[in-house]
Amino acid sequence: MPKIECVSAMEILDSRGRPTVGAWCEFASGARAWASIPSGASTGRAEAVELRDGDPNRHGGLGCRKAVGHVNREINSALRGKSFADQRQLDETIIALDGTPNKSKLGANALLAVSIAFARANAMEAKKPLFEHFASMVDESSQTLPRLTINLFSGGKHAGGQVPIQDVLIVPLSASSIDQGLADASAVYRAATALCARKYQMRPLVADEGGLAPPFPTIDAMLEDAVESIRSPGFAPGKDIAIAIDVASSHFFSEGRYHLEGRSLLPGQMIDQVAQWVERYPIISVEDALAEEDWSNWPALQRRIGNHALVLGDDLLCTNPQRIAQAIESDAASALLLKVNQIGTLTEAAEAHALAKKAGWSITISARSGETEDDWLADLAVGWSGNQIKVGSITRSERLAKYNRLLMIEAQTRWPVANWPKAKP
Ligand code: PGA
Ligand code: ZN
Repeated sequence: MPKIECVSAMEILDSRGRPTVGAWCEFASGARAWASIPSGASTGRAEAVELRDGDPNRHGGLGCRKAVGHVNREINSALRGKSFADQRQLDETIIALDGTPNKSKLGANALLAVSIAFARANAMEAKKPLFEHFASMVDESSQTLPRLTINLFSGGKHAGGQVPIQDVLIVPLSASSIDQGLADASAVYRAATALCARKYQMRPLVADEGGLAPPFPTIDAMLEDAVESIRSPGFAPGKDIAIAIDVASSHFFSEGRYHLEGRSLLPGQMIDQVAQWVERYPIISVEDALAEEDWSNWPALQRRIGNHALVLGDDLLCTNPQRIAQAIESDAASALLLKVNQIGTLTEAAEAHALAKKAGWSITISARSGETEDDWLADLAVGWSGNQIKVGSITRSERLAKYNRLLMIEAQTRWPVANWPKAKP
């Protein structure tokens, strides 16, 4: 069992130019690993607390010096000179040190940076690739790579709200490798770039996750443009390449209604609207079609579209085992969007993962809209046998870091890409 020499952290900037936390974990043996962590913009209310300094004179209050200080002082003092049998023991120690239900004392950003740096140092120590080390943390033996879901068009909070839906993603279904999936996605992205120039006189400027974000007049126009971009390089929509959407509807839900394109929809009407999109377009996964607090209507959504598309919970679930258990109990969803920083440690995210797997759900391992150049998410998606991975588009290097790491893992393992999960019977 390696002994921790020290842990330390520093503030760095993420892909939006906002501060985030990176941490070192150093073992007495000399193994020394770094990990930096992402940050969301379209966040769920039940997420663990990302500790920010709140000093308006520095980074608009978003500085992470307090969180960094907590790693350098409290967390380092608690870990220095100690050995931990496994990730769980380390995570339980820092969770107890924080002592709050939502990690508001030390900050989930401080805890997660240490949690992942520790995992990476252990992988180094064992001379194992990180994905293999991640696999040993969960009960996973399936040797597959995650199916890509790649951002094509952006809206909502990632693109200044020019259209209410947050993501239209493409899913390369006929591609049997990551390499082919990226090539196919790139052909569609090029076609979409040309479409944006022709229809919207837009240069290919990209949003937070690298998606194109022209001023679509309507949601239907956005979805039709996606289908046209799939078709124009010669792909069959729904067969070669399908569509996934993140409605991120919590952000246009208030007082029991969904405020969408000038309409004010009751939950039942919102379900009708989503069902119509699923019928009309080759959509196979729908994330956050209903709002995070609209729990009672999720089961009806699931009954309505669950045979045709994954009912994927992001803000609803917040990678939180208690919320996931509640959703399984009420049959509110069929898939988990897993974002480790929503919960704050690898061990708790592994619990979320185990619950979802046991319920027969599909799992999409996801990045955040604010990312760094770190690529651990690709290893996590492989090690934890994620059915899908959601990293953003194929532009912007913080996204490509993960795709390029997947290419490396593919070259090393030659594992096949996971099949799209079968629809619920
Ligand atoms: P976020 O959004 O990373 O900005 O929170 C991503 C998502 O909603 O899937
Ligand atoms: Zn989402």
